[in-house]
Amino acid sequence: LTLLALWGAVGYLLGSIPFGLLLTRALGLGNLREIGSGNIGATNVLRTGNKGAAAATLILDGAKGAAAVLLARSMAGEDAAQIAALMAFLGHCFPVWLGFKGGKGVATFLGLMLALAWPVGLLACATWFATAVISRISSLSALVAATWSTLWCLLVGQGQVFVLTLALALLIVWRHRENMARLKAGTEPRIGGSKA
Ligand code: G3P
Repeated sequence: LTLLALWGAVGYLLGSIPFGLLLTRALGLGNLREIGSGNIGATNVLRTGNKGAAAATLILDGAKGAAAVLLARSMAGEDAAQIAALMAFLGHCFPVWLGFKGGKGVATFLGLMLALAWPVGLLACATWFATAVISRISSLSALVAATWSTLWCLLVGQGQVFVLTLALALLIVWRHRENMARLKAGTEPRIGGSKA
């Protein structure tokens, strides 16, 4: 149990690194909190107009989720990997450094899923991408990808991550409540559009 708690803490610490905020600050791209949705994720970094910073945020926020899983798995096994995955996700959404006001967890979810159960991770990325191509709306793509991932777990024989995936999908939906209100009102911005 102490071992699982330790990997939970490692996962949380990794997940809580707000790469979007750090990169935009370092590059002098302005205050993310006052841009677009105010979120710290790659989608909002893209609204600064810097595609490289947005891509780097996506990759680094994904990589920290994957790193938490791979580290925990290699040192302590599959249960530790799942705990580290959950805690990395929670670290991203509720980082202690930002008064627990973090991101929506999408990039971190995709990264940790690729490391935890790669067929589900690949399908989640493909679902995000397909929805994004059709709708050009990041939040909608995240909502579709997260909810569909629970089905992908079962359809590709990765039932061992079903409960975790379901929990993360519910958290992602909950983190997107403002986006869902905008989607309903028809005011959610499109990728590459001006602002939120
Ligand atoms: O990854 C977050 C994305 O789904 C929505 O971001 O900035 O449009 O709220 P944003």
